Amino acid sequence: MSTQKPIKKAVFPVAGLGTRFLPATKAVPKEMLTVLDRPVIQYAVDEARNAGIEHFVFVTGRNKGVIEDHFDIQYELQKTLEERGKNELIEILDASQLDAGQASFTRQQSPLGLGHAVWCARDIIGDDPFALFLPDMVMQDSVGCMSRMVDLYSKTGGNIIATEEVAWEETHKYGVIEKGAEVDGGFEVTGMVEKPAPGTAPSNLFINGRYILQPEIFKILENQETGAGGEVQLTDAMISLAKQQDFFGFTFTGRTFDCGSIEGFIMANVAYSLWREDMADNLRPEIERLLREIKPGC
Ligand code: G1P
Repeated sequence: MSTQKPIKKAVFPVAGLGTRFLPATKAVPKEMLTVLDRPVIQYAVDEARNAGIEHFVFVTGRNKGVIEDHFDIQYELQKTLEERGKNELIEILDASQLDAGQASFTRQQSPLGLGHAVWCARDIIGDDPFALFLPDMVMQDSVGCMSRMVDLYSKTGGNIIATEEVAWEETHKYGVIEKGAEVDGGFEVTGMVEKPAPGTAPSNLFINGRYILQPEIFKILENQETGAGGEVQLTDAMISLAKQQDFFGFTFTGRTFDCGSIEGFIMANVAYSLWREDMADNLRPEIERLLREIKPGC
């Protein structure tokens, strides 16, 4: 086992407008919409914490202040619950909180793309390798996608991206990788392309929104030209980084829900409710009944 600098910091780009959820996201950030009783952003933060992350860097935008409040102490609520002896609720609140000094917030002032959002975190991350979470992607897994990646990283070092299989006709919506030789439970990444034109993807393994990156990515992002969609693409910067450093892939085999889309968000709610022992028994027959009874429009 080689010795790697540990992954203690994570970046969460949360500046996106969430236009697919309007009007819900007019005043509420899309990251604060809830899958059951936790906001979407909390799933990524919990996954990060379980993977050993100690500093959480949020790249926010205008109207996202409530995300900062969510991870703060809600002093009055806490006090009222204490007075009422509601210990279970206090535990739930405690679990959603980040400790003093553990969170940093910086703004992406203009929507210039994911690569630019990550670059906005450069001063806070400094010279350390870091984890990157695209919080729209909610991942259901007993171990945690990032925990699995940190485990692989402890053997391989370098950069790691999580991937998953997707239908070939969907590949143009994502970053897609080309798979090389197997290594320690992962594989070498021999190529990457952001949003390949239909029929040109090098594989059907898409980049699913979890990364471990070395800090040299920031120097590349600084001069990165715009790519697909006229945005500064992280994938393009990773292609350059892969010419200088090791790049590994990891196949995630849990369930991923794209909560940036209404369908993915609904599926996440259904899947998590069926996963919860206190809900599943009641919900399963209800969901089955709805499936039998409801047809579009009636
Ligand atoms: C981004 C990344 C892409 C990745 C996707 C996962 O694209 O650029 O490589 O596959 O997230 O959701 P976006 O969804 O922002 O277009």
